[in-house]
Amino acid sequence: MNQATTPNQMFEYWQQKLVPIGQEHVLTFWPALTEAQRIDLISDLQQLPSPAAIHELVQQNVIKCEPPRIEMDKLQPAPYYPASPGIDQAGLYADAVKLGVRLIQEGKVAALCVAGGQGTRLGFSGPKGVFPISPVENKPLFQLFAEYIRGTELRYGTGPIHWFIMTSPANDMETRQFFAKEKFFGLRSSQVRFFTQGVMPAFSPDGKILLADRNHLALSPDGHGGTLLALRRTGSLEEMAEAGIEQISYFQVDNPLVHCIDPLFIGLHAMKKSQMSSKMLEKVDDFERVGNFTMIDGKVMVVEYSDLPKELAVTRNPDGSRKFNAGSIAIHMISRQFVEDLTADEARFKLPWHRAHKKVPCINVNSRELVEPSEPNAIKLETFIFDAIPMAQNPLILQTLREEEFSPVKNATGADSVDTSRRDQSSRAARWLEQAGVKVPRKPGGEPDATIEISPLFAVDAEQLREKLRTMPEIKPGMQVYIK
Ligand code: UTP
Repeated sequence: MNQATTPNQMFEYWQQKLVPIGQEHVLTFWPALTEAQRIDLISDLQQLPSPAAIHELVQQNVIKCEPPRIEMDKLQPAPYYPASPGIDQAGLYADAVKLGVRLIQEGKVAALCVAGGQGTRLGFSGPKGVFPISPVENKPLFQLFAEYIRGTELRYGTGPIHWFIMTSPANDMETRQFFAKEKFFGLRSSQVRFFTQGVMPAFSPDGKILLADRNHLALSPDGHGGTLLALRRTGSLEEMAEAGIEQISYFQVDNPLVHCIDPLFIGLHAMKKSQMSSKMLEKVDDFERVGNFTMIDGKVMVVEYSDLPKELAVTRNPDGSRKFNAGSIAIHMISRQFVEDLTADEARFKLPWHRAHKKVPCINVNSRELVEPSEPNAIKLETFIFDAIPMAQNPLILQTLREEEFSPVKNATGADSVDTSRRDQSSRAARWLEQAGVKVPRKPGGEPDATIEISPLFAVDAEQLREKLRTMPEIKPGMQVYIK
């Protein structure tokens, strides 16, 4: 931490750090900055990794850009547990559910939602979790998860289930204010813990840190892989240990269908002594833009769609099915001890950096003008949570069904958009109702001819809905139905 106090001392302090790594241009505007602007700039600089780490990052990931070294000829699909057990697995699944419920009841499981992303594709100015998404009531994403957690507490008669929410420096305040305004959607404020992830600057292709304006670096969150270090740095791991939490149920803020706390998944993960487990679904086509669960030399790893060679993506098994068929949807169980062990020595813990070429508005320090690029001008670096899987012991994969658990809100329109997610929430609700014996009108194409929403406070899954539904609602074509 910089102990210098006067503006001159601060300038010299940072100059000494930045000159040796060729990044002193970020101080270009210092002489003209007001005191408050200087503080802004210093506080951005203080969020950066050490100068040595920045230098290494630039050399390894910005200036050089070697594609990941994967021995493709050794790559095999990773094995997984099917969504529905075969006869020989029925007992195992039943035992896993019992164990999962017990761990939830004993307070050993926390939910963790990563909500630090920028949501650029959605084009929504606030934190994504604030976005209204449910098909009838227009509930925001955060409310759906809060109600899922409360619904789980009610279902299993547990005390408060802890919920950790990862924010970024850019959206932390707004996220907290939203929860306070909404009275935590009926949860206790003490069971919800916000923690903030780290940031990474955008770089020019020749490795220079970009300035967003004269007194701010162009910073963005360091990727969902930043969760692991952020849990340690913010003291969240200690809090988890103190609260007796052993398992972390990890999900993304943009998937309203996710089963935030899933007894089967939790139970299998714990029973098999997995340190990090994942849910997968079957890809819709060879080139679907999801990571692929693979095995190499006995290690499970996710290979990004862009890194899987075309000839492997199209390979078929003898029965005609797709060989690399297991898509990653960013739903994990992670043991707290695993995160403790990985991050105990921060200097030795490294996830690989993934680079993306993006458009980043910035100040040109030579012309001193603001540049609004029309083409990608910057390299952004992020780490991904799934890169921790190869470091885990006994990693396990459980299949889930797309229609049951995956319909992310990534884009404003088109695929994975607000409309498709609302449609899929309503379709799932229709199926749950039909499984409970309710007649749902359907259009000639098969989709429900009604918009349906089921409050997670009423039922968190089809089984609970079946158990609780006393009177069968009469659903007429075109109706809006809210079950609560
Ligand atoms: P995405 O990869 O979809 O990124 O994040 P994004 O930032 O939300 O959206 P775009 O790409 O700018 O349109 C997947 C999940 O990971 C979280 C997001 O909040 C989302 O839940 N995430 C992503 C973080 O928490 N931190 C990050 O640095 C990146």
